[in-house]
Amino acid sequence: MASKFYITTPIYYVNAPPHIGHSYTNIAADTLARYNRQILGKENVRFLTGTDEHGQKIKKAADEAKVSVLEFVDKVVVQFKDLWSKLEISNDDFIRTTQDRHIKTVRQALKIVYEKGDIYEDKYEGWYCTPCETFWPKTQITDHLCPDCHRGLEKISETNFFFKLSKYQDWLIKYIKDTDKNPERIYYIQPASRRNEVLGFLENNKLEDLCISRPVERLSWGIPLPFSSKHVTYVWFDALINYISAVGEFDAQNIYRSTWWDKDVKVVHLVGKDILRHHAVYWPIMLEALGIRQPDTIFAHGWWMIDQDKMSKSRGNVVNPVEMADKFGIDVYRYFLLRDVPFGLDGNFSEASIVKRFNGDLANDLGNLVYRTLTMIEKYYQGVVPDRNNLELDKQGLNIEESIKAMPEEVNSILTSSNFSLALERIWDSINMANKYVEETKPWNLAKDNKTNELKAFIRLLVDVIRAVSVQLYPFMPKTAKSIILQLGEKEIKKGEPLFPRIETKKK
Ligand code: MSP
Repeated sequence: MASKFYITTPIYYVNAPPHIGHSYTNIAADTLARYNRQILGKENVRFLTGTDEHGQKIKKAADEAKVSVLEFVDKVVVQFKDLWSKLEISNDDFIRTTQDRHIKTVRQALKIVYEKGDIYEDKYEGWYCTPCETFWPKTQITDHLCPDCHRGLEKISETNFFFKLSKYQDWLIKYIKDTDKNPERIYYIQPASRRNEVLGFLENNKLEDLCISRPVERLSWGIPLPFSSKHVTYVWFDALINYISAVGEFDAQNIYRSTWWDKDVKVVHLVGKDILRHHAVYWPIMLEALGIRQPDTIFAHGWWMIDQDKMSKSRGNVVNPVEMADKFGIDVYRYFLLRDVPFGLDGNFSEASIVKRFNGDLANDLGNLVYRTLTMIEKYYQGVVPDRNNLELDKQGLNIEESIKAMPEEVNSILTSSNFSLALERIWDSINMANKYVEETKPWNLAKDNKTNELKAFIRLLVDVIRAVSVQLYPFMPKTAKSIILQLGEKEIKKGEPLFPRIETKKK
């Protein structure tokens, strides 16, 4: 097992403020970062997020706002940074593609690949989608519309530079298949459905070389190519490099050096399904051409929809994550996103579903278990947490003890495949067993019948469940876990308000 962990999110375009889609990836990455810090130690985990600031889209947004591009991006970047601190995102670094460290690495990478002969100049004619910044091959378009956003394509003819993707096609197919066989790297592209999609695409299409430049006269807002003053770098070739420019450098021999991109580090990229092709085809080939090892996992998650529809400014249905966190609480928002939908699938976002999760899982299950346990400790032991000492448990109690002992291993193996909702379900199994135990044991009867040992063993077990649950819950709901541990002190309790007071819903 790797002793270090490096996790990344996509770097977000700064043409518009962040929405729930962006917050989703960062919350997921934050959970894995926190989880791995618990296991590997803080110093062995690196969590990177950042912003993608070049390209046409951003230039256009700045022009519309009638400010300089730098002024524009600086403003939007603050909105992203503020959101991450608001949502308790524990990133160790924040990369901006306008930073010198990044620009330097991109230019060096281009130079290395160019000198190797994997970049060549050619005349280019093709159908281009400006909003998506993508050239589309004839075979993929109908009626000259963008297959992605369905807006009109422009026919463009110009001299450009091309990266030899085609040269690496067979290598990539073999690499993906080989990593499947290697038990440690079984999860190169995840989930499995996405791996199949990428492989299917590679096996059934001939990869076209990638146009990695834009003529300056068409787009000036980009990183100048080191080998042509007339061109800037295509935004995706620029953006993908962020994962390595943030954590290392090329040395004088053109060898990339980094303590975060090495054999002993597990490198995980979380991305949305719409940018899987860039991460699972372009990026592996770029790394191979640069002589750099591959990441361990590329996980493509699904999309949040609103009433089964895409979120977009023009539809006016964009959900603001700050509003959601203010309304329901940061942890509730985090919990909802990670619990309601399996990580690889699309989900439908609605406040009603948040309320349902809140009143059910959080108020009825978790909140209730903590509250009733604290109340019993208050009532029967004057707020002092009872000791463990050789107390005997009944059969149901022993089962629960087994369940909390097995929990860390099980959650660990579930999280290896970033299956957040299943990991939370597993934690809730222990919570639900404990609640059932309270209902069936009826502790008030034990107290009435003076069964002091039984009562003590029973309550002490609940304490153990809550502590074990808090440890597992921490990466998902850091504030809540800390608050539970604080209320259920080592020796004495400090009972506060209920964690999740039920939200009243109007009866129909
Ligand atoms: N800048 C590129 C990424 C470069 S990474 C080297 C980009 N930026 S983006 O801001 O448009 O999108 C970033 C991420 O947000 C993508 O992973 C995308 O899938 C995700 N989401 C955008 N809308 C989303 C939802 N409605 N739901 C979930 N995620 C979504 O692409």
